Amino acid sequence: TTNRTFTMIKPDAVANGHIGNILAMINYAGFKIVSLKLTQLTVADAQAFYAIHKERPFYADLVGFMSSGPIVAAILEKENAVIDFRTLIGATNPADAAEGTIRKLYATSLSENAIHGADSDENAAIEGAFHFSGREQF
Ligand code: CMP
Repeated sequence: TTNRTFTMIKPDAVANGHIGNILAMINYAGFKIVSLKLTQLTVADAQAFYAIHKERPFYADLVGFMSSGPIVAAILEKENAVIDFRTLIGATNPADAAEGTIRKLYATSLSENAIHGADSDENAAIEGAFHFSGREQF
């Protein structure tokens, strides 16, 4: 059934000029853009967004990186949105990402990996609501 996922084009990919190409890949793969904005996370926002990772050794670096510059946040709609979007973006580490995936093309490292994709329908809804009000969801 048609459902939704949540994504962020991360600060590295925004800084490197890849917003347009990544959005084009997302549209070409069949996703409808339901919500879209250029925004920047504060340190507190990034700590809250990634709270699930707070005991991990990379948490401080992750929070610092994700709050370091503008990002693009978006809610996307498609059949099997969460799973199909994770296929489109590729493995977390770009060294392991399949040819033709967004991370293979645009990520530079495990920590600066160009794009986020929600890992479940439940998290997609939570993450989308973190960034967008009801009036911002089309
Ligand atoms: P993502 O899955 O979007 O959200 C958590 C992020 O933590 C992940 O992408 C990586 O960019 C980042 N990260 C940094 N170091 C690691 C690591 N050692 N293992 C997993 N994720 C890491």
